[in-house]
Amino acid sequence: MVTKKIQFSGKSTSFYFDADFLLLDKLVSREQAIIITDEHVFEAHKKKLKGWNTIVLKPGEQFKVQQTVDVIIDQLLAMGADRQSVLIGVGGGVITDITGYVAGIYMRGIEFGFVPTSLLAMVDASIGGKNGIDVGVYKNMVGLIRQPSFLIYDYSFLKTLPIAEWQNGFAEIIKHACIKDASMFKELQLNSLSGYRKDKMAISKLVQKNALLKAGVVVKDEFEKADRKLLNFGHTLGHAIENMYELSHGQAISIGMTYASIMSHQLKFFKGTDEVVALLDKYGLPTIVDFDTNKAFKVLLKDKKKENVSINYILLEKIGKGVIQPLLLVQLKDIFKKLQS
Ligand code: GLY
Repeated sequence: MVTKKIQFSGKSTSFYFDADFLLLDKLVSREQAIIITDEHVFEAHKKKLKGWNTIVLKPGEQFKVQQTVDVIIDQLLAMGADRQSVLIGVGGGVITDITGYVAGIYMRGIEFGFVPTSLLAMVDASIGGKNGIDVGVYKNMVGLIRQPSFLIYDYSFLKTLPIAEWQNGFAEIIKHACIKDASMFKELQLNSLSGYRKDKMAISKLVQKNALLKAGVVVKDEFEKADRKLLNFGHTLGHAIENMYELSHGQAISIGMTYASIMSHQLKFFKGTDEVVALLDKYGLPTIVDFDTNKAFKVLLKDKKKENVSINYILLEKIGKGVIQPLLLVQLKDIFKKLQS
């Protein structure tokens, strides 16, 4: 096991890499702990979860909404949860988001930790403290930034992960490589999804590298005033089309990264668009697609990154170097129109 303690502004988070779920027993007592998970994880890992207080949710992004939060709060009250209780999100990004959010508001805030079970949650969703819910098609419109006490990385959860979920996780890994790490981009080009799936050592190294890359960005700019914005590469268009077309998060941001790369070529003379598209394609992700640019633009106008008449778009100067580019909304509308013609 590799332990890293990361100090965020308000608290520190312990990352336990290459750990076993059983570590949970050492971190929190069974009386205090309440696990929040979904039916898929619960069914696949019943043995691991036996003996813990558990709230089991329906799986899927469509349940990352206020109604589910209300149901959880009712259950917490029925279970007698108090300020000493610790919520533990065991699952993918939907579970970690909703657990962190409920922990932030129940009794004005209780402690929480995560056991990310999907690749996407391990490298991205469980890290950074942004925890929220969707409102209609608007992703993560309500939420807070509050860090978990611990994250347990037990790679045995990946054994039951469907291939589409591996692709989902690789979208965020490719994003990290594009904005911050040219050598990881090369490593991904040389390796493959099936290669990583078969090689426990390689995937555990890759997960740790990505989790620490993200944590490093967040530590420097927890409240997204500067560099943390880079993590939104592919997410502005991605979030707009994700719920519109019921895409997975990985698919949506892969399309978002493709169009952001094309825009980077137009606005920043970026030369790596073909390489980015080829890498996304290699990991089974969609790239150039037909989408309703007018509709997407309308959803995008509600994006949290929008500031009055402009929006901060993340572009690439080169592979491994993302930049923040403020764009006027009228300018962006024009670019979108041209993208599909
Ligand atoms: N929970 C994901 C993030 O903070 O970016």
